[in-house]
Amino acid sequence: MPLHLKRLLLTGVVIVSLFLLLKHALTPDSFGQYGHYRGNSMGEIAALPIHFTGNKSCESCHDTIVTMKNEGYHSDLACEGCHGAGYLHIKNPKTEKLIKPNSREFCGKCHSINPARPEKAITQQNIKDHHPEDKCVKCHNPHQP
Ligand code: HEC
Ligand code: HEC
Ligand code: HEC
Ligand code: HEC
Repeated sequence: MPLHLKRLLLTGVVIVSLFLLLKHALTPDSFGQYGHYRGNSMGEIAALPIHFTGNKSCESCHDTIVTMKNEGYHSDLACEGCHGAGYLHIKNPKTEKLIKPNSREFCGKCHSINPARPEKAITQQNIKDHHPEDKCVKCHNPHQP
């Protein structure tokens, strides 16, 4: 074999071995345990603190409100989307209170007129003119508006 080809071959071998060595050194041990990712990440993610618990977790204590909401215009909304994360509350409802967002501004976050929001998706209301003297919840039940 001519010398210049040997050199080329040697350089190739050095580069490939360097790559394999580095790959071995840098790949976490649990990589590939379950699939093409780090197996340990499963436990790490499962150990993160829980904040949101979902509509189902409210059912056992507030079943009338859950049923009411599911039958009305707000059926697609999550309880915690308005009331905030419920994990602490479902453990200690007496001490860990959730917010009751009954201001006009709060409803306006979704219902005020906003050209960036498709009118067909969420009914828009001119918040300044629409019964400005009262809170929205005086006339609209937030759970079944
Ligand atoms: C284990 C029973 C239980 C579960 C589960 C539960 N709650 Fe409650 N919740 C209560 C009780 C009891 C109260 C009344 C507390 C009081 O007035 O001292 C309450 C009060 C509330 C209030 C009113 C807060 C206030 O200051 O008056 C809201 C809002 C609320 N819950 C929302 C939720 C949401 C949303 C969920 C689901 C994520 C949920 N709750 C799950 C028992 C529960
Ligand atoms: C659109 C926002 C919104 C959603 C979604 C929502 N709530 Fe509420 N909720 C409110 C507001 C606002 C109040 C306060 C009503 C008032 O002041 O008259 C309230 C009050 C409450 C209260 C206190 C009881 C009362 O009548 O004052 C409970 C309990 C409650 N909500 C539970 C729930 C549960 C459970 C869900 C999901 C099934 C849910 N809410 C979904 C806005 C919402
Ligand atoms: C997270 C966004 C969101 C918030 C916050 C919210 N809504 Fe809604 N609302 C919706 C969606 C989505 C619908 C169903 C689509 C529609 O009909 O506009 C709806 C429907 C309604 C409707 C029926 C509109 C119709 O088509 O006739 C009323 C009334 C209403 N909401 C009042 C309120 C009031 C009052 C509040 C505050 C307590 C509130 N909403 C907070 C998203 C929201
Ligand atoms: C004094 C009672 C009252 C108050 C307060 C009130 N509304 Fe209404 N709302 C009504 C009535 C009645 C209707 C149906 C007739 C109409 O469209 O005016 C209505 C209709 C709506 C609709 C549906 C409009 C449509 O085109 O179908 C939405 C959305 C709405 N209100 C949201 C709100 C929001 C958000 C607030 C607070 C910022 C609010 N309302 C405050 C009485 C009220």
